[in-house]
This record gives sequence, structure tokens and C-alpha cells, in this order.
Amino acid sequence: MDEQSFYLNTIEQVVPHRHEEVMAAFYEFLELEHLYESAAETVKTQLNIYDSEFGMKFQRNPIHGIESRIKSPQSIVEKLQRKGFPISAKSAQEHLMDIAGIRVVCYYVEDIYALAEMLSLRSDIRVLKVKDYIINPKPSGYRSYHMIIMVPVHLSTSRREVPVEIQIRTIAMDFWAALEHQLHYKTKASVPPALKDELRELADTIAETDLRMQDIYDQINDL
Ligand code: GTP
Ligand code: MG
Repeated sequence: MDEQSFYLNTIEQVVPHRHEEVMAAFYEFLELEHLYESAAETVKTQLNIYDSEFGMKFQRNPIHGIESRIKSPQSIVEKLQRKGFPISAKSAQEHLMDIAGIRVVCYYVEDIYALAEMLSLRSDIRVLKVKDYIINPKPSGYRSYHMIIMVPVHLSTSRREVPVEIQIRTIAMDFWAALEHQLHYKTKASVPPALKDELRELADTIAETDLRMQDIYDQINDL
């Protein structure tokens, strides 16, 4: 289904009859997209400021790369349906915390915690939820530090608080997660238990390598 027919189908489900209501629902989704994009931009700008400040002070950048994405209207509707929530822009704002997603890839494990702390210390950012999958890896072996933060967005006539999901991880954790994610997409059937075990073992090996790299960095830093 192309994007336009998807929008029209979705809107028809929500407001089947009146033209003005169709337009209103469409406009609400546009506003939603703008709001979450603005929140993501704010967070990315802040992260880049930390990165360049750190580079200036310590001649080393903690951030290897930043990616961001806004959930498409299609995935928003799919997730609302899957979780049994009403389908509207308002419902999406209430129930979905990952409409705006940012992935920060760092060099060292230590950088992850430093960035997470700096973000949470910003007085106008509120931390809603933290999931530390580095200390508590997922059964799959997945590691990453997840935060949901509430970010202020100043619009022309109002100030809004918008949730942004941030995943902070090292290059090593990102390498594993990217390949593992692709493997799950590749196989139509589920991954056999023996291979799952192997993937988890590899995640453990990678985590150990990460700590050893950190250790070398610390030792060189102390010379
Ligand atoms: P959702 O409803 O999927 O958002 O679940 P949740 O809110 O409990 O989020 P969770 O903390 O599980 O993190 C979701 C995101 O983390 C996913 O969209 C992935 O990007 C990433 N993630 C979580 N588990 C895995 C995993 O086992 N492998 C990989 N590659 N990524 C994972
Ligand atoms: Mg999520």
C-alpha cells in the first residue's frame, strides 16, 4: 500500500464520513510529526554540544554517531492496534513513548553513563524511564542503555513536553545489535535455540572485549 492510500484508509477508520473531520485528523498527524521531530532535534543538538565540549576539553569525542527516526504513521497505527489503544494522534501521544527515537553510539561503556547523566542533569529534561540492558542484558544477549526523557518544545503559542526514546550503546554493542536484528528479519521461521545460544555467547564475548578496551583506555590515560 502506498503512503497516500495508507493515510486515507487509516483516516477512514477513524472518521468515516465527514470531510472536515478527515482533514482535522490528517492535520493532527502532521502536527504530531512536527512536534516529535522538533523534540528529537533538540536532543541531538544537546548531544552534539556535549560531544564537542568533551572534544575541546579532553581531545577525545565520546560519540561515534547519532541516528534518529520518527515512527511512521503506519507503524504508529500498527502499534496502537496491537496494544489495543484507540487510533488517533492524541492516543498516540498518550500511549506511545517511542514515536521519536534516537540512537547514540559511543566509543566506551563509560561514555554511555556520562552522557546519560548529563542529559538527566539538564534542568528542563525529565527522565521518565530507564532500562539498563548493560547491567541486565536481555535474554537474547542485547545490551544498551535505554532512556525515555521528556523534552520541552517551544512552539509559537505553547510549550509542550514530548517523550523521546534514547538508546545509548557502544560501537561493539551496536555491531551485535545490528547483525542480530538483521538475522531475525532474514529468517521467516524463528531462530533455532542452538543459534540463539550462540548469539548470546557472542554478545557476552563482545561485552568482555568492550570492558578490556575500556581498561586499556584507562591505563593509557593514566600514563
Ligand atoms: P516495544 O514495545 O518494542 O517498544 O518494547 P519496550 O518498550 O519494552 O522496549 P525495549 O526496552 O524492549 O526496547 C525496544 C527497542 O530496543 C527495540 O525497538 C530495538 O531497537 C531494541 N531491542 C530490544 N531488544 C532487542 C534485541 O534482542 N535485539 C536487538 N537487535 N534489538 C533489541
Ligand atoms: Mg519501545
